[in-house]
Amino acid sequence: MGKARRPLAACTDSCALTSFVGRDDEVAKVAALLGEYRLVTVTRPGGVGKTRLACEVGRRVGARFADGVWLVELAAVQDPALVPAAVAAVIGIPLSPDSAPAQALAGVLSRRQLLLVLDNCEHILDATAELCGGLLPAADDVTVLATSRGPIGIAGETRYRLGPLPVPGPGRIGRGLDSQPCSCSPNGPGRQIRPSTQATEPPSW
Ligand SMILES: Nc1ncnc2c1ncn2[C@@H]1O[C@H](COP(=O)(O)OP(=O)(O)OP(=O)(O)O)[C@@H](O)[C@H]1O
Ligand SMILES: [Mg+2]
Repeated sequence: MGKARRPLAACTDSCALTSFVGRDDEVAKVAALLGEYRLVTVTRPGGVGKTRLACEVGRRVGARFADGVWLVELAAVQDPALVPAAVAAVIGIPLSPDSAPAQALAGVLSRRQLLLVLDNCEHILDATAELCGGLLPAADDVTVLATSRGPIGIAGETRYRLGPLPVPGPGRIGRGLDSQPCSCSPNGPGRQIRPSTQATEPPSW
């Protein structure tokens, strides 16, 4: 898959409707972590903004990955056995009944350079751990950014604990905060996040 196939911007549905507020430091820090580590998990309780942050990070770092950034929304995947197939479906990897989905996935991805965003893994942590534990050693140029309320819990995982969004002071309510326009749109069940041309900032912690 070449750069010419990088498709459309995408993110979560709510992202298409609202501006991304603040989080510049957090986006930069997670983007920097992805330059150093191949499995980064954004953790914290529900609703704090993990998915939204991961989408923004995906856009920020997209230019680093020749085969793009792929968002796999796992919240609706209830059967852990279906996790590899869910990833394969998003990337467009055909599966054959003759081989295990995880093996087929690792075989194809061993020839790709991409970022997988595994979103909302908390209910299928064991399956996500198994997927990452098999995939990352087999596919040297694949990096995973996961979001989960809890850690995946395998060796090599780097956790980023996302804090709550700051509440604006009373004088700032209704004045638009420091929002950035979110240039994304839905793109089917599997979505690819547009690579960004923004320079990556160095780690600042
Ligand atoms: N920085 C932000 N700017 C604007 N809206 C945001 C921001 N962060 C989160 N939101 C909005 O808050 C809501 C919850 O965010 P999000 O889905 O990313 O949380 P989450 O931590 O992934 O939750 P869950 O654990 O339930 O998956 C969404 O509607 C999202 O668009
Ligand atoms: Mg989420």
